[in-house]
Amino acid sequence: MNALTPSRLRLGVNIDHVATIRNARGGEHPDPARAAQIVAQAGGDGITVHLREDRRHIRDEDLMRVQAATGLPLNLEMAATDEMLEIALRHKPHAACIVPEKREERTTEGGLDAAGLHNQLAPIVSRLSDAGVRVSLFIAPDPRQIEAAMKLGAPVVEFHTGEYAHAEGEQVAVELKRIVDMAALAAKNGIEPHAGHGLTYENVQPIAAIPQLAELNIGHYLIGEAIFCGLEASVTRMRALMDEVR
Ligand code: PXP
Repeated sequence: MNALTPSRLRLGVNIDHVATIRNARGGEHPDPARAAQIVAQAGGDGITVHLREDRRHIRDEDLMRVQAATGLPLNLEMAATDEMLEIALRHKPHAACIVPEKREERTTEGGLDAAGLHNQLAPIVSRLSDAGVRVSLFIAPDPRQIEAAMKLGAPVVEFHTGEYAHAEGEQVAVELKRIVDMAALAAKNGIEPHAGHGLTYENVQPIAAIPQLAELNIGHYLIGEAIFCGLEASVTRMRALMDEVR
C-alpha cells in the first residue's frame, strides 16, 4: 500500500455483458444475478449495471434480482431522462452514474457534456441526492467538466478512460497525465473521483496507482476474460493487479 493512498481502491464490476449473452438467445442463462454473486465471492466491491433506454442488455426485471443477489452496493448507470430517474427513485441503488446515451449528450472525448447539459442535469442530480442516491457524472478528464460537476453539486465524477485505453505510443502518457491531473483537481474540490471504460489487465495499473481515485468500474474485459478463465478468476486477477500498485 502506497503511503499517499487513503484507502483501498474499490472495484465495481459491470455485469451488463452477461445479460448481452443471455439476450442473444432469450431465456434465463447466463443469469446476471449469479454473476453478481460470483463477483462478490471474488472480492469485487460493487456491482454496476447500465439500464439502457433500448434495454439491449440489462432489463428492468434484472435490477431487483441483481440488487437482492448480494450485499454489495449497486451502481446504476443511467441516461438523464425522466424514465430513468423514475426507475432510479423506485429502486434506490447505492449510486447512480449519469452517462451519455445520445451523440448530442457527449463531449468530444465521449463523456457526459455536464457543462452543456446543466439545466437538464440539475433536477436529476438533486432529486437523486435527496433520495439518498450517491450521484456520479461520467465525464471526460477535463477541467470544464469538473467545474460543471461542482456547479451541479455532484459528489462523485467518473473519468472516462476510453481515450487513455485506446491511445498508442507517446499519446498514452499524455492521456494518463490528464487523468492524473483531473483526479487531483476533483479531489481538491471535494469531489470523489472514479474511473472506467476500456480497462484491461494490461492498462489498469497506471490508473489504479492514481492516489485520489476511489473506485474503478470495469466490465467488458472482465466478462470477455471470463469466457476463458471464469468470472471468479478474472475478477480475482484484476483485484490483485489493482492491489499491487496501492
Ligand atoms: N463506467 C461507465 C460509466 C460505463 O458506462 C462503462 C461501460 O461503458 C464502464 C465504466 C465500463 O467500461 P468497460 O465495459 O469498457 O470496462
